Amino acid sequence: MLLLSSLLCALAGYVSAFLVEISSLTDLYPPLWQGCPGQLSDYRVEDGMYTINPWLYPERMGIYKILITFTAEYFERFAPNNEANILWGLPLQHGWQYETGRLADPTSETECGKENGDDTCISVNSWWACMNYYLCALPFFGAVEAGVLGISSDQVKLSPPPKDQMYFCYNVTACRSSFPDAMTKWNTFFQQVKESSKSLDDLLKYLWDAHIASLEAARSIFDNRNLYFPKPESDFAEGWSNAVDYIAAIRFETTLKKMNKFQKYLPPRLLKSDDYPLFIKDFTDSQNRILFLINLINKIDNDSGHKFLSLFRNLMKSEYLRKMVNELMEQLTENYNISPQELAIIFSEYI
Ligand SMILES: *[C@@H]1O[C@H](CO)[C@@H](O)[C@H](O)[C@H]1NC(C)=O
Ligand SMILES: *[C@@H]1O[C@H](CO)[C@@H](O)[C@H](O)[C@H]1NC(C)=O
Repeated sequence: MLLLSSLLCALAGYVSAFLVEISSLTDLYPPLWQGCPGQLSDYRVEDGMYTINPWLYPERMGIYKILITFTAEYFERFAPNNEANILWGLPLQHGWQYETGRLADPTSETECGKENGDDTCISVNSWWACMNYYLCALPFFGAVEAGVLGISSDQVKLSPPPKDQMYFCYNVTACRSSFPDAMTKWNTFFQQVKESSKSLDDLLKYLWDAHIASLEAARSIFDNRNLYFPKPESDFAEGWSNAVDYIAAIRFETTLKKMNKFQKYLPPRLLKSDDYPLFIKDFTDSQNRILFLINLINKIDNDSGHKFLSLFRNLMKSEYLRKMVNELMEQLTENYNISPQELAIIFSEYI
């Protein structure tokens, strides 16, 4: 009897520890995650096709939720509860964009995405939203092609935005013909995910290759468009799109926990014209440092005519160096004992 009750006790402890783990994980999910569609049948059907409107935040986020859900079984061997799914990087980035006002219309043309307007609307005038489209539509259609979602290519389409329709693709066929490189890389990633012999590091390589190919496709279209943002925000946007090349080179681990930790250091709101990186009062020291670092890397990269990126990519082929830089980055953002003010002095000659 004693044995039974202590067994039950242990079991209860185990179950409640498990529940605590689950509930703390749900805190890490992106905004409105629970209410987003999680399967294709949650979307409406038009002309016999599932039709998703990616210009509404819950519907675009639902695409990620489907990807995360349908690939869960392949990541269980790395950690329970889908926590090690490296696709988390995409919805979490998108959630950060939403939360920080980056998906709203930066012009006065519409109320799209604004707090007093329709706040789940995603504006086609937002550079962040346009770039993200390529990191949502192409992985999604790549997964359809790779047979991960259990539907065929002609069963799903995305809705166009109210204007600038020519800058986007809306179905598997059109995306494949306009962006063959990115589509092939996403398809490959999803094929590799199914291989149980692959390590997380292997899969990260395929993921980041595909991610960069999506960005390349988007950059060629949106780089020369007016970003409509105040200068500090457009500098940050440019710096961020450049920094992603470096983050990809170190194969940054985009699992649920790592990504959440990292995103705490990203700017929690749009930058204003009088925000000066390193000295933004309502940002933490870590947020100021990351912002500064992103601008610094962008400057080094630009001044070297992108030679610095080639050099960095070559160095990062070594797993040992990748580990080192990943650790260094964590140190630098978290508990580096140089204040933003001191960093400014050190680099004052260069910046
Ligand atoms: C895919 O999109 C293209 C261009 O938007 C369109 O011409 C074509 O009919 C669409 N294909 C299907 C199967 O819906
Ligand atoms: C990058 O270089 C170009 C030309 O050399 C220059 O016009 C531009 O301002 C530079 N951008 C940054 C962020 O340094």
